[in-house]
Parts: sequence; C-alpha cells; structure tokens
Amino acid sequence: MCGIVGYIGDKKAAPILFEGLSKLEYRGYDSAGIAVVEKGLLAVEKKEGRLMGLEEVVGDKFTATVGIGHTRWATHGKPSDVNSHPHLDNDGEIAVVHNGIIENYLTLKEMLIEKGHKFQSETDTEVVPHLIKGFYKGDLLEAVKEAVKHLEGAYALVVLHKNEPNRLICVRKDSPLVIGLGSGENFIASDIPAIIQYTKKTLILDDNEIAVVTKDKVEVMDKAGNHVDKKVLTVDWDPEAAEKEGYPHFMLKEILEQPTALRNTLKDRIQGDRVNLDYLNITPEYLKGLRSISIVACGTAYHAGLIGKELIEGLLRIPVEVSVASEFRYRNPLVDEKTLVIVVSQSGETADTLAALRESKRRGAKVLAITNVKGSSVAREADFMFHTVAGPEIAVASTKAYTTQLLGFYLLTLYFGQLLGKEMPKELYSGLKELPVLAQKVINETEKRIESLIKPFEGWGDCFFIGRSLDWHVAEEGALKLKEISYIHAEAYAAGELKHGTLALIEKDIPVIALATQLDVYEKTISNIKEVKAREGYVIALVQEGDTETAKSVDQVLEIPKVPSLLTPILTVLPLQLISYHVAVARGCDVDKPRNLAKSVTVE
Ligand code: F6R
Repeated sequence: MCGIVGYIGDKKAAPILFEGLSKLEYRGYDSAGIAVVEKGLLAVEKKEGRLMGLEEVVGDKFTATVGIGHTRWATHGKPSDVNSHPHLDNDGEIAVVHNGIIENYLTLKEMLIEKGHKFQSETDTEVVPHLIKGFYKGDLLEAVKEAVKHLEGAYALVVLHKNEPNRLICVRKDSPLVIGLGSGENFIASDIPAIIQYTKKTLILDDNEIAVVTKDKVEVMDKAGNHVDKKVLTVDWDPEAAEKEGYPHFMLKEILEQPTALRNTLKDRIQGDRVNLDYLNITPEYLKGLRSISIVACGTAYHAGLIGKELIEGLLRIPVEVSVASEFRYRNPLVDEKTLVIVVSQSGETADTLAALRESKRRGAKVLAITNVKGSSVAREADFMFHTVAGPEIAVASTKAYTTQLLGFYLLTLYFGQLLGKEMPKELYSGLKELPVLAQKVINETEKRIESLIKPFEGWGDCFFIGRSLDWHVAEEGALKLKEISYIHAEAYAAGELKHGTLALIEKDIPVIALATQLDVYEKTISNIKEVKAREGYVIALVQEGDTETAKSVDQVLEIPKVPSLLTPILTVLPLQLISYHVAVARGCDVDKPRNLAKSVTVE
C-alpha cells in the first residue's frame, strides 16, 4: 500500500532511494517518484509505471545527499505521472511522500483552494504540502506539527523543504514507518527490507510520533513536542533473506523456503510431548474463564483462521467464530472480556486487522497476535504475540506465512489444551516435528510432476477446488492463490455443496482440484469426485499415501505422506501453491506483482 523512503547522509541520495524503493515495490507499483534538494532547489522526478522506468529517466543526474521517494498503489486518482508522489506546494519548496489515506482531504482542499492554493492532481496527498506551506514560518518541524493537527485518516509522511536540506521530518498515524540508524547517515522507510542492507538498527515510530532526522541524529517527539525515548530494535533478518538469491521470483523462493520456515517456527516450541509457549504468560484461569474465541484476519491469513477454528473447536471444545477483519470492525461483534481475540497477520500492518484488534481491546477482550513481523503495529498492540518465524515475505501472494500461521494454530491449540488439563492426541506432537521433512518431500514430488499437473489448465479461464472439512479450507486458499497470480477464475467449494448449484458449471475437461485427505469424510468426498467425473471434469486429486481407491476415479493423483488428518493442511497447500505459481508463469503473468494488488494493505 505505497512504499515511502527517505535518506540523509553524505552519499548520493538517489541510488539509495531507488534501492530502498525496489525493496518496497511489493507495496505498490503503479508509479514512482523521488525528490531531492539539488543545488538549493527541489528537484522532482516522478512517473507512471514501474520503478525501473523512473530510474532510467533519472540516471545519475542528481548529486544531492538528501531525498525522499515513493512507490504508489493508487487509491485516490488513477495511476499517472501527475498523481505520482512526491507532491509539492505551489512554490515547489516542500515535497511530501505519503502512505495512507487522508480522509478529510476534500474539505481541506476546498479550504485551501479558497485561500488561493492551486492543485495539480486528484490525490488526497496533495493537500499535505499545501497545508504545511500554509503554516510554514521558517521552521519545517513546527509547520508539520501544525498541519497534522488538521489531518484525519491514516498517514506515514516524510517531508523535505528546499531551505532545510539538513533534515527530514517524518510522522505517522496508522501507517507504518521505520527509521534506520546508520553512522553519519540515517534512513526512513515503510518497511525493514528497504533499509536492512544498510543497517540492522531501527526505531519503529508509534502513532502520532514525529521524528526529526538529520544525518547524525534522530529525535522523536509526541504530537505536543515532548521528547520520546525510543528503544532501538535490532532486526534479526539477514539482508539476503529479502533478496531473490537467484530464484526467478520471490514467490518461488518463498514456497521452497517453507520447510525451513516451519523448522524455524517449531524451534524450541515443542519439547518431547509438550508445547512450550510459557513466554506468552497465559494462565489456565484466564483460559477457563473464556466463553469464546474470535479469530479475525484478511485473505490468506483468514484462511489460516478457518483451520484454526476447526482445531480449537475440535480439540478444546471452545466455540470459535472466524471473521474477515473488514466486516468484523463494522458490525457489532460478540466480543467482551470473556473472549480471546486472535488476529492473524503476516505483515502486522493490515489496516482492517489492526482496527479489529483495537475494537476488540476497546470491548475489553485480550488479543493474541499471530504475526510474522516482530515490531509491527499488530505485534506491539496485542496482549500476547506468537511470532511466525517465516522470514521476510516479499511476494504479494502469501505462501510461507500461511503455513507458519497454521503451525501457530497447532502449537497454540496444543498448548492451550495442556494448560486446560485436556488430553491432547500424542501423534500430533510427533507429527508436527516431522512436518519440515515431509513438506520438503511434497515439494520435490510436485516439482517433478509439475508439467503434467499444470497442463489441464491450458486454455481455461475457470476452475474449481473442492474438499470437505479441513480440505475445504485449504481448497479456499488454493483458489485464492490461483486467482490472484494467474487471473484464472477459481472457486473453492465444500465438496458436498457442489450439487446444490455449482455442479451446473462443470463441463468437459474443466480443471477441478479435489482434496481427499480427511479420512473421516473420505468416502463422501470420493462420491463428490465421481459426480464431477460423471460430468467429464478433469480431476487432479490430492490424497494421502497408500490411497489406491481415488486413482481409479480421477485423471491424476498426487500423494502426500501419511500424517494424522488434522495435520494435512500444511502439506496439501504446497502443491496448490506450486501449481498456481507455474500456471501463472506459463501464462506470462507478473507473479510477484499481480495486477491491481499490493502487499501490506494499510488502507481500508
Ligand atoms: C494473498 C495475500 C493476502 C493477505 C492479506 C492479509 O496471497 O497475501 O490475502 O493474506 O492481505 O495480509 P496480512 O497477513 O499481512 O495481514
């Protein structure tokens, strides 16, 4: 949802800004722009399209050592040169890059137009430099402080004034902002991958904090101007972890990293037949007092939540509701101090999920976050935090975050069961420990067969995913994956529901991926598969090893190793991710940057 960067130091700013923006392109890639102070004047280059196009235009024409940059995911105003950031005031003295949405921009714009300001773009952001200009009396910090008092909505802003090239001012509310601490230079970015190659020492700005960043110093203050003591957070990612490392796409790299991500997320958390999450400080008394659990998330993380519900209800017998965050926040959810709310978010910055977290806390509930980013807003605001140790996920389509979120639900469920004194199935503990090795096996097997697995999709604009119970929820994730990166219309159905309408869409050779790994409903699923075959659909089935029955009814079978039915989702999703990836590549799609999407959805 837009990436912003800033640099101040002794080096040429432009290459560092471009390098940072290239690491943030996953947040938006409709257009890009930079502003630097070049020989006492503000120099701005901005352009619709990918960052590379802008880089070619800029070349090495700037020698400035201070600047700001932006990569855009359009919200207000279509992608175009003029709607690109940075935006300026009328005199071209103040440049602003922004991530978020200024909700009251129309009112502000009208007010500013009445005062004689002239606007170039259709964006909400353009009001910001004009507003700052209105308050500017020779001190940019004071003007920004005054201007933000008038802004409603979400914003991370970096501001540069041509007359004050020795400092950048940044401020955030409900959109992420990180400051990277260098030696004789400092960095600003929406996210850590943009600065990790320069420094691992970071300050994470909190809402309503303003920072004055010079090359030697960072001073953080609250809205009233009081000094805030910030803790330095040292990032534990390797810079290489956020690089493609020779893979054609981040998505493929991240799919293949899953055995490692699972291993890292399991590490030290299972000891023998016990899960140890004592660091959470959740007491048996607290759990016993709960009336329900509410899981809230978006997209892929929501799909992980659907599996979480089955685990918790199945093993703990606590009622669980799962909601998409954008709906949860605007209804009147049944959440109070007797509800544990579990929010799931890879980035920890998704606006709807964060709002749901805040609403839950406002209603008296405690919130447990399952998130991949330690210093994220969700991680910091939750009462309890389960960290998925997946490493940076850069591809827009989520893969390793999903499987580690699932692992989080297994571990939390078993741990809660232990605290509640319930007998937990022993085979789950040993099964979980085996998952990294088994995941590798599934990946290898799928890759070997990938050509024949993707062939049935050739020429099709529609397909179906079916399954029952946990398989159905994995099918939902499989369908989302295929849709978002290959643009093939995919639907996931509870296999038993097909005959209530969707079966009408089954025609000769239409691809149907059927998951049949849930042994308690196995026979029923096979019957549904046969219903599809009777209408001449092309069925690829995912089954557990040793299943000789399904092969007789379908076109292709892919086996996953034998594990307890409850554990299959972490394995069955892997072929679905790989099939989606390879289908998208075969169709010539931009896998890491699918059209219309961006990662880290920090706007509503
Ligand atoms: C799909 C995908 C999205 C995200 C969703 C939530 O592949 O990545 O559906 O899962 O936008 O993002 P986080 O987990 O960062 O809150």
